[in-house]
Order: sequence, then C-alpha cells, then structure tokens
Amino acid sequence: MCGIIGYAGHRPAATVILEGLKRLEYRGYDSAGMALIQNKELNLLRAKGKIRELEDKIAQCDPYHATSGIGHTRWATHGLPSEENAHPHPDYEQKLALVHNGIIENHSLLKRDLREQGYSFRSDTDSEVLSHLIGLELEHCWDIPRAMSAALQKVEGSYALALVSLNGEGQVWATRHSSPLILGLGQGENFVASDIPAFLPYTREVIFLEDNEIVQVSSSKYRVLDAWSLKDLDKEKVHISWDVQSAQKSGYRHFMLKEIMEQPRVIQDCMSGRVDLASGQTVLPELDHLPLPRRLHVVACGTSYHAGLWARNLFQEWAGIPAEIEIASEFRYNPRIIQDGDLVLAISQSGETADTLAGLRQAKQQGQQVLGLCNVLGSSIAREADGVVYTQAGPEISVASTKAMCSQMTALLLLALHWGRKGGKLGDSDCRDLLQGLNELPELLDAELPGMREKAQKLARKYSWSRSCFFLARGTYFPLALEGALKLKEISYIHAEGYTAGEMKHGPIALVDPEFPTFALAPDNGLRNKLLANLQEVRTRGGPVICLTPPGLEQDANDVWEIPSCPEPMNGFLFLTALQLFAYEMAVYLGKDVDQPRNLAKSVTVE
Ligand code: G6P
Repeated sequence: MCGIIGYAGHRPAATVILEGLKRLEYRGYDSAGMALIQNKELNLLRAKGKIRELEDKIAQCDPYHATSGIGHTRWATHGLPSEENAHPHPDYEQKLALVHNGIIENHSLLKRDLREQGYSFRSDTDSEVLSHLIGLELEHCWDIPRAMSAALQKVEGSYALALVSLNGEGQVWATRHSSPLILGLGQGENFVASDIPAFLPYTREVIFLEDNEIVQVSSSKYRVLDAWSLKDLDKEKVHISWDVQSAQKSGYRHFMLKEIMEQPRVIQDCMSGRVDLASGQTVLPELDHLPLPRRLHVVACGTSYHAGLWARNLFQEWAGIPAEIEIASEFRYNPRIIQDGDLVLAISQSGETADTLAGLRQAKQQGQQVLGLCNVLGSSIAREADGVVYTQAGPEISVASTKAMCSQMTALLLLALHWGRKGGKLGDSDCRDLLQGLNELPELLDAELPGMREKAQKLARKYSWSRSCFFLARGTYFPLALEGALKLKEISYIHAEGYTAGEMKHGPIALVDPEFPTFALAPDNGLRNKLLANLQEVRTRGGPVICLTPPGLEQDANDVWEIPSCPEPMNGFLFLTALQLFAYEMAVYLGKDVDQPRNLAKSVTVE
C-alpha cells in the first residue's frame, strides 16, 4: 500500500525523502512523488513507475536547498498509475500539497460539491479532494490544523496524510484515521512516516499516532493535537530496538531470501524469555489478565490466515479449545455467535491490515475480548486489542511473507501449549517434551537450509515451464499446502492451488495432465498411505509428482525431496521452509521482481 514520509530538519529534504521512499518500496507501489518548499515555491515532482524514474526527475531540477517536504509511493486504487494520479496533490491555488494513503469513500459526493463551487480536478484520484477541501478551508483561516480539522469532518473513509504549505516553510503536518502513521523524533529533525524503516537510519525514538490526531513538525519541535478539539496532547515516546541492519539485505540478493534464512533465529527470538525448558513452563505475562478461552475465533488475512489454520489442531488437541478460523474480510460482514468466554485472536504481521483491524473493532463493539498476535510494535491491532503477543521476528520487508509466518507458528504453538497446561490438558512432561522439540528446531533448520536451497533451485529449474500446479496435503499439512501455493503465485505468477489430497477426485483432478505438476507434502504419519493413494491417482493420469517427504520411506513420485525426520508439529516448519524456497527459486529463475511482486502490497490498509 502507499507509503508516506514527511521530513523537517537540517538535511536536504529531497535526499532524505528519496531514501525513505526506497525503504518503503516493500509496501508495493506503482508511482512516486514528492513536494518540497524551496525559495517560497512549491516544487512538485512526480513519476509513474519505480523510484528511479522520480530520481531522474529530481536530478534535472536541483531541489536540494529545501530542508522540509513530503514524499509518497502510490499503490493505485482510484485512477490508473500515471504521473497525474501520482501524489502529492496540490490544492487549487497550488499553495499546499498533500500525500494520502487510504480511501476517501465519499469522494464522488465531495467532488460534485467542489465542482459546483468552481473547482476542477487534475487527477482521477479520490485523494485530490483532500487538498481542495483543506485549501478551501484555508481561505477562511490560515491555521493549518484548524483547516485540516474542518475539512476532515466532511470526509468518510480511511486516511493517513502529510501536507506541506507555502505558508509554513520548514514544517510538515500530518494526520491519520485507520491508516498507519508514525512520528520519528531526531536531533534537529523530525519525521512522519507510514512505517519505521523509512526513518530508521536517523532515529529510533518514535511516537505512535492514534486515529484523529494531527501532528505538526518542524526541525526542532513537534506538537500532537486532537483533530477535533485541537487541544495539545501528551504522547508517550517509544524506543525501537530494531537497528538499520535488520531492515537491510545484509549481502543477500533479496529480502525474501534473507528472511527465509533468518527463520532459525526467528524461532529462537520468539521463544526468548517465554520458555523455561527445565520445568516445561511457558512464560506469557501478556495473557495473565485473560481467562482461559472457552472457544477461539481466529481472524486474519493471507499468510497470517494460514498460520491460524495451521494452529487450529494445536488449540483443539493440546488445549481442548475449539477454534474457528475466519478470513477477516468475511468475518467483519458475517456476524458470529460469539459467547461469553470466547476470545477473538487477530493475527497480523503488520498489525495494520484493514480487514483484520475492522474484524477486531467489530468484535470489540460486541463486547468481545480480543488478543492480537502481531509483529510490528505499536501497530493499530497491537494497540487496540485487549492484549498482544508480539512475534518478535524483526522487520519483514519482502512483500511475500515468510519469517512472519514462521514466528506466528512459533507463537501460536506457545499459546496452545500455555492454555493446554493452564487448562490441565497437558502435563509437565508433555510440555517439557514439546518445548524441548521446539528448542531443537532452530539448529536442525539451520543445518538444513543450504541443502534445501540447492534442491529448491534444481526443482525450480526442472519445473519452470509449469503454468499451473497443485499443492496437495492432508490434515494439519493442508494449511502449509495453501501457503506453498500462495507463495508460488505471489512471486512467480504461476497459477497454483492448495488442496486437501482427498478432495482432488471431486473435481480438481480433471485438470491433471502431463503439463500439470503436483507438489505433495507427505509426512510420516497415519495419513501417509491415504495421501500416497491420492498421488497414485495423479500419476495414473500422467501428472508429474514432486514429493516432499522424510527420508527412507516408500513413495512413488517423479521427484523426491527428502527433508529430515522431525516430530510433529515441529516438522511443519521444515515443510514450510522448503515450500518458501521453492517459490523463491522459481521466481528468481523466471526473472521476477521477488521482493516487490506486481499488484501486491505488503500491508493492505484499505478494504
Ligand atoms: C498482504 C501481504 C501478505 C500478508 C497479508 C496479511 O496481502 O501481501 O503477505 O500475508 O497482507 O498481512 P498481515 O500484516 O495482516 O499479516
């Protein structure tokens, strides 16, 4: 989704903004722009396509004296990706310019009213109404927060916006409603941005802005105001422990590869401080104030949804807690019978996904307790939930989520174990054994990663001609098959579907032919023979089969990919990693843009 950065300081703003935009590229975008105030003139620079196109424009006009400005990467919602539709958008008289992330739902109505007042529009975006509305208010009062407040009262939808004005050289204003925005506090410079990596090289002191707060920053000062009463607010500063290194590629060709390779450490970091191996205890003070749930309603999107699906059995088997997993965009419009004692668990790496956030809000409105499982500190879901368990995976930059799922699976496993023990379903020795198994996993995974990558490379080459394929599994491995298919389609654009192997014969098998490979997840468990029988059905119809399996077992496949034996459910992490690497190597081999796949956004902050 769109990325915003605003800067007021002592450095050339164009450079800081450009670098910040590059660090926000991972969010997904199709055009970029910036607005700078220099020599009492508003400079607007915008370009369709990648940030380097914007860089070329900047190089031609030397805007390096400006020390404040705003920048934007746009992920098109209203209006095609084009220079005219790229942000920033100026007001009618070109006295201010703003950048926007979100959707103005009543933009048609607002446009009609503005047209009736003689305004015309230069773009097809919904965002342009914001600049005109604020510009209009500024005709009556020259106080920018007041004008923003008056204008925003007319607006329905979601927004994070940042603004510069000719009447306030050296300053940036910003506000948010259901879209992320963070204030970064530096030495003689301040920032606003959609996400922390945008300003991470300059400061780790931040303030998380809440909905309906306006912030005004200059190089030496900042103010946070309530957007409606315009009263000053006292805000808590938070120190971020991420360092610049964790948001860089560190020698890897792609963030995605770096993040897959980090998974052994991610498991350790998620366990860190939460596990007492000797006693088999889990230490999760985040849950102390929440009773043992009677039933769980897990709400999530994309990869986070798959992590929730994977954990369903753990909740049921270990803790005896029935769990329903629901895609957030469905949950929010499909009221559930949620009873006293139920808990809603919102899983989100970013903590900003609009549908998951809306699901959380809806549950809270009904008086339900909500627990968040998030990676990003201080994100909206983390703040609005009644409790939050952080996955502690560090920043995930690649659009295709990998290490976040690994950390979610680790945290969900700890949650299930914690509740299992609390509810008396798991004894001390069960917990000790399970935690011991989890504790051994990072070393095992670490040792396997190079070999897995090599195998993934070979198979990707061999099957790079595929246009479509299946990922088949049974039982608790089915969510991993869904994730394998999602990863492949996200970054290599090969059509892929995850299916429960037993369901194949009820329709999908019609697709199978020699040009339609099937990737099977075949663990050593009670369902293995059933799965092998399903694979036979595929082979009989000429479909090539790749079988991901522990070594030394009987199988019948065109290609066998052996991964080490490891007890359930820990082996799920090995299957997951193999699938991620297969998708990664396929995308690299096909020459795709691995970290920023077309049409996708890292954090989907619109509905
Ligand atoms: C987007 C991303 C996916 C991610 C999903 C949910 O679609 O491209 O990789 O899984 O959002 O994101 P969340 O931050 O809520 O986990």
